[in-house]
Amino acid sequence: MRHLLNPLDFSVEEISSLLDLASDIEHNLPRYAHVCDGKKIATLFYEPSTRTRLSFESAMLNLGGSVLGFSSASSSSAAKGESVSDTIRMVSCYADICAMRHPKEGAPLVASLHSSIPVINAGDGGHQHPTQTLTDLMTIRSLLGRLDNMTVGLCGDLKFGRTVHSLINALVRYPNVRFLLISPTELKIPEYIREDVLRANNIEFVEVDSLDAAMPELDILYMTRVQRERFFNEEDYIRLKDCYILDKAKMKLAKDHMFVLHPLPRVNEISVEVDDDPRAAYFRQVQYGVYVRMALIMTLLEVAKPC
Ligand code: NCD
Repeated sequence: MRHLLNPLDFSVEEISSLLDLASDIEHNLPRYAHVCDGKKIATLFYEPSTRTRLSFESAMLNLGGSVLGFSSASSSSAAKGESVSDTIRMVSCYADICAMRHPKEGAPLVASLHSSIPVINAGDGGHQHPTQTLTDLMTIRSLLGRLDNMTVGLCGDLKFGRTVHSLINALVRYPNVRFLLISPTELKIPEYIREDVLRANNIEFVEVDSLDAAMPELDILYMTRVQRERFFNEEDYIRLKDCYILDKAKMKLAKDHMFVLHPLPRVNEISVEVDDDPRAAYFRQVQYGVYVRMALIMTLLEVAKPC
């Protein structure tokens, strides 16, 4: 039995097959309508979410399966003090697969050790968010036609943004991917990403604070929200929250075939005036998220592709 806890749990070849399956689903959706008939996914969300939870639920419903779960720690037995390991033992009796989001780094890993069903990490604290990464990879591959030979700018809260950590982890495995890491000093990427992921793999990267200066170089701009819930004090959050705002003027500095991604939710970091720009891909990204999660559920449940 396999889990997905970290984007590196799948090899580059496995990711490529998964994205091929997601792409086939995108183009032949009705064919997949019954492949998971009778199967259930449990969505165990101890932290707020709109997209990720609904995306998993929509994915399972599209496959003919059903969904159960909870959407906040306060509405589950965690509020009574139940441990993650006890909860997962119980959920293993109710569902065939589960997606877990938790504020504590490593909680889905703990769950996987006590589970008899596949566990998908749907975001653990400031650590990893592998299904967002699969979504990001599918979006980039669909828009640019490749996952190699590109300059990727990651902008905003690179310290607490788990989507950023997961995406860097995944992209360093493709040849000639260069990173511009755009953030204020206080929100730079964690040391372990800089040393153990980027430097250890000899990846070309620069840490800068100007989005304007970076714009003309980019093939992909990955904007992120300042992660308010992970700050220790509100004053720092208020000082940093609007450090970058992508607007029409900044978009003029970018290449014509550059694309803007954002895991969402957006707060102020992308002005709504950018939404109509053909290079704004963040809502298309949401749609890709459903196809990729359908492919992931099928892969972990070992459901065969329909003929
Ligand atoms: C992200 C997350 O939860 O880390 N959202 C998501 O899953 N689409 C990004 C964020 O909350 O800023």
